[in-house]
Amino acid sequence: MANQITWKNYYSVNEPSLDAEHKQIINCINDLYSALNDPKRVDLTKQILDALVQYTQTHFEHEEKLLKEVGFPTLDAHKALHDEMKRKTFGLRTHWTLVTNQDVLVFLKDWWIGHIQGEDKLYASYMPVATTA
Ligand SMILES: [Fe+2]
Ligand SMILES: [Fe+2]
Repeated sequence: MANQITWKNYYSVNEPSLDAEHKQIINCINDLYSALNDPKRVDLTKQILDALVQYTQTHFEHEEKLLKEVGFPTLDAHKALHDEMKRKTFGLRTHWTLVTNQDVLVFLKDWWIGHIQGEDKLYASYMPVATTA
């Protein structure tokens, strides 16, 4: 389906547990695309957004904990990006009826793929665990 995100191996951040969470979030965004493209499934939008909020919060907390453990130098700036995205994602859930706008999905897709390939990649060399994904 157009606009679905496909996981690429080069998205890996060298930590399988974080890769798994990134994949979970990408799957969630893909589920939103599917729900919005199928009139019978539009009522699932709120449930999927609830899951996205939960996965986002859990992932950011986990990632920040690991970055603190490995002494990642720009954790504060990275956390500020997370906090901003958390606020926006909470806002989407609150105003979930507006998510029928494809622009919202483009925003989610662009933010996550950009963040994983940009800011998250910066910590990959700090990760002690070699990826098996
Ligand atoms: Fe991050
Ligand atoms: Fe991340």
